[in-house]
Amino acid sequence: MKIKNTLNNCEKYTFCQNYGIMNAAVKGPAGHKKLLVDKKGRSVIEKMERTNGVDSWKEVMLIYNSALKQVETKLEVLNDEFQHVHRYNPIEHIKSRIKSSESIVKKLKKNNYESTIDNMIDHVNDIAGIRVICSFTSDIYRIADMISNQKDIKVLSVKDYITYPKASGYKSYHMLVVIPVYLSDRIVDTKVEIQIRTVAMDFWASLEHKIHYKFEGNAPEHIKRELVECAGMVSDLDARMLSLNEEILNLSEKSNKE
Ligand code: GTP
Ligand code: MG
Repeated sequence: MKIKNTLNNCEKYTFCQNYGIMNAAVKGPAGHKKLLVDKKGRSVIEKMERTNGVDSWKEVMLIYNSALKQVETKLEVLNDEFQHVHRYNPIEHIKSRIKSSESIVKKLKKNNYESTIDNMIDHVNDIAGIRVICSFTSDIYRIADMISNQKDIKVLSVKDYITYPKASGYKSYHMLVVIPVYLSDRIVDTKVEIQIRTVAMDFWASLEHKIHYKFEGNAPEHIKRELVECAGMVSDLDARMLSLNEEILNLSEKSNKE
């Protein structure tokens, strides 16, 4: 395993050399692999179907959807088991989504890649994305450990924006994992991006995302400053809620012994 530093002030970024494994997902003659889009990046699916009749776009999306379902189920099982053993749910809720064709094309363009299915598989890591929201910061690492310990999940990289928050104030724990999807005639290793964060971090990230979108990345300085301040408040709140919870747990343990 090779250790790589990210551009994002996040030192804990591990990177395995398992890339390119997903090309098996693409079938059909080479000429059919291009994503066909209009100037705004729309109509990918429609044109793919009309032009060649080979459903490679649909097939790839089916695989990503299956990978998403598998990871989601794994997380639910772990949560249920945790509840059974410790009488407590580390996961508050889970949100999952498949990246839209427009966003995939936009990301490829931004990174100077041609809009092909091969490129999207190789270079867009968040086509299948899961967000795990939990109550306490300690739950985040607990969940991350439980995921890493699953035999059929390979962790490609980790970005710990909790220990190393972004300059914007963004905090979250990101894992890029690979999970095998079993089809009738083959197994396709598929990438899924998992973001784990607390309710408070998620609240902050949603608002910041809205602001970022509204101002197209150029929010006024005073709003940026305020967001950084709010991020500090989120960290304080998370720390206080965690210590309150620990105190409550200690107290109830004591009273159980008495
Ligand atoms: P992209 O941002 O997706 O191009 O990927 P990246 O390679 O920079 O990866 P990173 O792990 O830094 O970010 C992945 C995802 O995390 C993003 O797509 C967002 O969903 C989320 N994210 C990262 N930084 C921020 C941020 O500053 N604010 C908010 N609201 N979300 C962020
Ligand atoms: Mg993303």
